[in-house]
Amino acid sequence: MPGFELFGDKERKEVNDVLENGVLMRYGFDAMRNGHWKAKELEQALQDKLQVQHAQLVSSGTAAVSIAMAAAGIGAGDEVIMPTFTFVASFEAIMMLGAVPVLVDIDDTLTLNPEAVKKAITPNTKAVMPVHMCGSMANLDALKNICENNNLILIEDSSQATGATYKGKPLGSIGDLGCLSLDFVKIITAGEGGVVLTNNPKYALHADHFSDHGHDHKGNDRGAETHPFLGYNFRISELHAAVGLAQINRLDEFVAIQKKNYTILRDALAQIPEVVFRTVPEGGEESYSFLSFFLADLETTRKASAALKENGIDACFHYYDNQWHYIRKWQHLKDLKTLYPIPAEVKKGLKYLETADYSKSDDFIARNISCLIKLSWTEEEIKLRAEKMVAAIRASI
Ligand SMILES: Cc1ncc(COP(=O)(O)O)c(C=O)c1O
Repeated sequence: MPGFELFGDKERKEVNDVLENGVLMRYGFDAMRNGHWKAKELEQALQDKLQVQHAQLVSSGTAAVSIAMAAAGIGAGDEVIMPTFTFVASFEAIMMLGAVPVLVDIDDTLTLNPEAVKKAITPNTKAVMPVHMCGSMANLDALKNICENNNLILIEDSSQATGATYKGKPLGSIGDLGCLSLDFVKIITAGEGGVVLTNNPKYALHADHFSDHGHDHKGNDRGAETHPFLGYNFRISELHAAVGLAQINRLDEFVAIQKKNYTILRDALAQIPEVVFRTVPEGGEESYSFLSFFLADLETTRKASAALKENGIDACFHYYDNQWHYIRKWQHLKDLKTLYPIPAEVKKGLKYLETADYSKSDDFIARNISCLIKLSWTEEEIKLRAEKMVAAIRASI
């Protein structure tokens, strides 16, 4: 998925614009900028591309998730339902606000199981956060329905699936709020950066002010601006925004390359009857960032994962044994290892983790391998890769 594979003249041109006028900050310094407002331009481009009314650029995807929740008024003791399979950023961002991450099972989409979500709702639940992992998506109609029936906020984390769509709409634009990461390994990158997407003007205003110390951004004298509420500094720099601006204009190109490469690998693996591909919800179109499939059981999957590595097939992840993406290895969360005392609500709220049963998620993740799709492969390299993958998997089953 990494856009960094195809850096070039467009990225350099945008960055040079910023370096030449020397204004690295996204706000203020109007006279010095020679008309360059890279963050503003990127926000407009994101709005156009992702069909949302408001896009707020921030410093990271993790910040975007925290800001989205803060914008919707989620805080101390509120419960946010999230999947067991995601990136650590999901629970970090929730806990930053003193809210409680409630981890629930995934299904064969590799994202939130709507039935598990229903069962996890309590009077303290405020939001449901599907994380569209590995280029595909959760069943958003089902989750929207649950949220509407229970008066909950739907926050999509689309960091790993920018460019994917559900029933014709870009991921991130469907919930009350959407979040993207523009870090170095995402399909389009700014180096570091994140985005909060929303069609709700109140949430948009909150995200704008909250990510810049609560500034109201009225007029052009920063020192004279008022602070309607507390905020923090989660600003993106103009340099990062400049890179992102070049990359957003290449999103369609990147998705098309990924689709081509993905299709060659998928067609090859489809010859193996024991390979079962992840389910993509009806009406979904992936970003083709990963090819994700299931094998029969943990033992076979471990063997296949080792065989892929031995045969030089890089970037195929068996998340069951991975430290970053699955609850099984998040000992620091289970033991609540923090540098500082955490809110009593969070401590109490996370007690359930001591006894939670995630055997259903275990079953999916134990049998799953997800292979990153790169942009820079030549046709020859992909074909050779496909042959090697088929041989390695066949030898393991
Ligand atoms: C699903 C998901 N959410 C959030 C993030 C956090 O993004 P960032 O690295 O920009 O903080 C990531 C990063 O990998 C991610 O994969």
